[in-house]
Amino acid sequence: MKADEVRKVGVIGCGLMGSGIVEVSAKSGMDVQFVEVSDEKVAKQRGRIEKSISKAVEKGKLAQEDAEAAMGRISGGTDLDAAGDADLVIEAVTEDLDTKLDVFARLDGLTRDEVVLASNTSSMPIGKMAAATERPDRVLGMHFFNPVPVMKLLELVRGLETSDETLEFARGMGERLGKTVVVSKDRAGFIVNTLLSCYLNMAVKMVEEGFASKEDIDTAVTLGLGHPMGPLTLLDLVGIDTAYAISDVLYQQFKDPIYSAPNLMAQMVQAGHFGRKTGKGFYDYGK
Ligand code: CAA
Repeated sequence: MKADEVRKVGVIGCGLMGSGIVEVSAKSGMDVQFVEVSDEKVAKQRGRIEKSISKAVEKGKLAQEDAEAAMGRISGGTDLDAAGDADLVIEAVTEDLDTKLDVFARLDGLTRDEVVLASNTSSMPIGKMAAATERPDRVLGMHFFNPVPVMKLLELVRGLETSDETLEFARGMGERLGKTVVVSKDRAGFIVNTLLSCYLNMAVKMVEEGFASKEDIDTAVTLGLGHPMGPLTLLDLVGIDTAYAISDVLYQQFKDPIYSAPNLMAQMVQAGHFGRKTGKGFYDYGK
């Protein structure tokens, strides 16, 4: 199948990343079926997508009628079977390997043989997800960046068995979604998180050691390096739980202390201070 023939995309898991993938797919003219774990989450994530699409209208990035058409293309539910007739499925469930393996095995049984199954994982081995299916040549990583509607990059991750055809299909999909594509081997962290994880860990260590205040660290990076936001604000955006999980995967694979997450990060995860999504991280966001 060619990317421009895709009519329906399945998105499994509709959190911070999944909802962004749903949004960009619907805005690019495709029908989207997203799958969540409960009716409450389906309603909540639909609301999140609606809010982001409205923001795009407010910012002058999208016409009101196109926003309405995009919302009309989105369906949500709790049954994985509803994604069974999709032409591409993107998994964006929580960063837990067993959960992902289960989703891939089930999708393999539900979808047509030629359908590409992609994972939005930030760091986990694509090869393992491919091995949970009977179609390892049609499995790859499609790693988006947060906030998905705004960030222009799509990292494609090629597993050992991913075919040239699958890679070209995903490249075409990336272009259809308005993203610039880069390709990485199936190595934990891929390109961006290999670099990002040690930088974020180092910023947390600086806070932990009282080296400088969180505000000063963020200001220094924003104004001194020209980044759109400093590392602690970025951690709150990405999710401290997610950043911690990524760091752990990198550390487990390479055993390099540069990837070892600081104690403060572990404590924040234990306390449920995940950043914006829970209302509290390095900064407070209210309820
Ligand atoms: N839909 C479409 N466009 C939108 C939008 C939406 N919902 N919301 C905002 N925009 C557009 C705005 O119109 C604006 O566009 P212009 O520059 O053309 O005017 C642009 O996006 C910026 O929006 P804002 O002015 O509202 O917001 P901002 O300037 O405060 O930027 C930000 C917000 C984009 C998040 C910016 O701070 C940023 O780029 N931060 C860094 C984010 C980052 O590094 N993300 C990667 C995280 S790592 C990751 O995701 C991978 C992983 O595995 C952990």
